[in-house]
Amino acid sequence: MSSFNRRQWLQLAGYGSLATLLTPGAAASTPSHFAKAEELIRLSSNENPYGPSQRVREAMIASFDKVCRYPSRYQQELKEMVAKKHGLTTAHVLLVAGSTEGLKLCGLTYGAHGKEIVAADPVFKALTAYAEHFGSYIHQVPVGADLQHDLEAMDERITQNTGLVFVCNPNNPTGTILPAEKMKSFCSSVSERTLVFSDEAYFDYIEIPNYPSMTELVKKGDNVVVSRTFSKVYGLAGIRIGYLLARPDIIQRLGQSIMARPNMLAIFAAVEAMKDEGFYKMSLAKNKEGKAMIYQTLQELGLEYVPSHTNFVFFKTGKDIREIQAAIRAEGVLVGRAFPPLRDWCRVSTGTTQEVEMLCKAMKKVLS
Ligand SMILES: Cc1ncc(COP(=O)(O)O)c(C=O)c1O
Repeated sequence: MSSFNRRQWLQLAGYGSLATLLTPGAAASTPSHFAKAEELIRLSSNENPYGPSQRVREAMIASFDKVCRYPSRYQQELKEMVAKKHGLTTAHVLLVAGSTEGLKLCGLTYGAHGKEIVAADPVFKALTAYAEHFGSYIHQVPVGADLQHDLEAMDERITQNTGLVFVCNPNNPTGTILPAEKMKSFCSSVSERTLVFSDEAYFDYIEIPNYPSMTELVKKGDNVVVSRTFSKVYGLAGIRIGYLLARPDIIQRLGQSIMARPNMLAIFAAVEAMKDEGFYKMSLAKNKEGKAMIYQTLQELGLEYVPSHTNFVFFKTGKDIREIQAAIRAEGVLVGRAFPPLRDWCRVSTGTTQEVEMLCKAMKKVLS
């Protein structure tokens, strides 16, 4: 542990001043403080190590006085901000304890108990795995050779018993994005037959101008649910807050089964995060810079990769990911797990500039 790291760790463990805790740059420059045993650089879960911003830290501390109260009465401002951002009403918004809660809630409500769900494979599995646990049959439709959702094949799997069709766009773990018109017409046509869930966890990272959110369909009153999260660009993965957007009758139905709901700190953190444009822009810029560094390394190594519309990059190593993961871990960097059947691909998240430099060094050593 370097002396700087050690000092940071002691401060975060409670010996330091509040001022240091309130300095986002300090934590961001040494994210390995969470992995004190191994000091691993964690580029495995698509987090944003620059968060939370200083303004958000201060807002959370200022909300301490309210923590003795139940949080439901304090949701209004955030709901209004979210509704305004998407051109919807507060009746279209359900705040959840991380979008994972919304994914599970929807899988359970619409897809479980003997119903079928259609989803791509590989895809982010929170919704499908949870619904399967409660008796859903999951149609796992392999992604195409371009690693995109195969929308035609997904459409063919829809039956009268389909409770929901899950689309993750941009997709995790592939980082791909569907062509705008194709995505819109698929969701629109499928929503006439069953519910469509559009997971937009990485929407903020999309650089294609005017790329449509499926909130456009929610606005039209279609049978569509959209999920968003504060875990990625806002850097709030640990505080657990996200939201669902859907027609008021769908929101009402989902609200009946919600279990956790966001806590007070999360609500105040999210309100401030939405106001903090400087941090938002910095996060996007840093992500872009990190991806460019990773692309450059992959080009030097001659490895195939998918241009990413997220905060991670998916690339082909040609070797079993377990072997690659262990070798890169030995260099101090944790990369993503296996995403079967693409076992010779590797998913790495962007981190701080320093972290990405370490990653690129490790990649060059292990993959040359
Ligand atoms: C596609 C996708 N959706 C949802 C989530 C979960 O986000 P949250 O932290 O809001 O539960 C993730 C997390 O990595 C993700 O990749």
